[in-house]
Amino acid sequence: MKKIRVGICGLGTVGSGTFNLIGKNANEISRKTGGSVKVVQVGCRRPHPDCDLSTTDTTNDLFAVVNNPDIDVVVELIGGIDTALELVKQALSNKKHVVTANKALIAIHGEDLFKLAMDAGVCLKFEAAIAGGIPIVKAIREGLSGNNIEFLAGIINGTTNFILTEMEAAGNRSFSEVLKEAQDLGYAEADPTFDVEGIDAAHKMTILSSISFGVPLRFDAMYLEGISNITVEDIKYAGELGYKIKHLGITTKTDAGIDLRVHPTLIEKSHMLAQVDGVMNAVLVGSDAAGQTMYYGAGAGAGPTASSVVADIIDVMRDGDSVANLGFDALMDLPMVDISSIESAYYLRLRVLDKPGVLAKITTILSRYKISIESLIQKDAKRGEAPIILVSNIVLEKVMDEAIDAISNLDEVLTDITKIRVASF
Ligand code: HSE
Repeated sequence: MKKIRVGICGLGTVGSGTFNLIGKNANEISRKTGGSVKVVQVGCRRPHPDCDLSTTDTTNDLFAVVNNPDIDVVVELIGGIDTALELVKQALSNKKHVVTANKALIAIHGEDLFKLAMDAGVCLKFEAAIAGGIPIVKAIREGLSGNNIEFLAGIINGTTNFILTEMEAAGNRSFSEVLKEAQDLGYAEADPTFDVEGIDAAHKMTILSSISFGVPLRFDAMYLEGISNITVEDIKYAGELGYKIKHLGITTKTDAGIDLRVHPTLIEKSHMLAQVDGVMNAVLVGSDAAGQTMYYGAGAGAGPTASSVVADIIDVMRDGDSVANLGFDALMDLPMVDISSIESAYYLRLRVLDKPGVLAKITTILSRYKISIESLIQKDAKRGEAPIILVSNIVLEKVMDEAIDAISNLDEVLTDITKIRVASF
């Protein structure tokens, strides 16, 4: 009977969930693997109230765990980069398998770490780094391995999805109140600006892009926007035009290279991704043989993330010599598509002086740039000012930005123009 000896570094939400899940489902894991998983040591600053550590060796020295000769798999759940990087490097050079939920670590240092893992002949697994309990890494690397992946679009940050959903539903809950609720539910990052500014989603999307297309991890070159500029007005007007606003990660393999971006996006209300509300996550994958498939579930929290961590530990048990990499024998260093070169439809919102001829001036500029208007709202005029909201056809972003500059220069345009991309899949 194969026995895997695990050391857990970090006993926060995910660490405690993992510790408890291994204990709770020990029999089922044995039935599935013919072996057993034992947590032999936990490294943490303080015990977690949900964990009974009375029969488990604990230490506050995380490096004692990675250097422990009785441990086969190090589970890195401390988050952050600096210490986690040192821990994982040390564990790999000690020829221990590593399972991590650390998306920043993989997105930024993944290639060096995969090389270390391959050289050491051990696994580096990261299912839990993306979309919590959704087995999206396995779906792409295993379930869809016979396909050419064409694109991915995902709601992969529960905190921002929760905030946008609440803003839409309540219309009067403050941003900080909703964020606090997401933090209390154990969803938000230690520094919630990582969620709100889209950095967390960007780390995840970087990894998804690489495992989909077999390209290097290019977090440094991707396009990133958070949700802090999204207003209740935008959500309301988008709704009137038949859309919801979601914070989406999108990556596409194009003739020009890899398009990789994270930003707020209007999605038609009838689209499956528009139905993904609250803290839930979903990833839509377009591929040449399977067509479009979508994966939905809890994107964070103790149980869902532990589910992915434990699945990786079980993988290590089942095929301990499996290659630790991004799922491709060799990566292709394709160019990254600059955001100015993407094509999209756009939602624009602007405030103008409420007087005759203003709309005509705006549409004249748009037609000069060969941009046509698919839908338009002009109402709620107050004190001589009126909002104009429109959705364009699909155009080159560079062209839309030039048109926006020209419109902004009109004397009748009173504020900055809000631009939000509209999904076209
Ligand atoms: N802060 C993340 C989220 C947690 O809100 O989805 C999981 O990565």
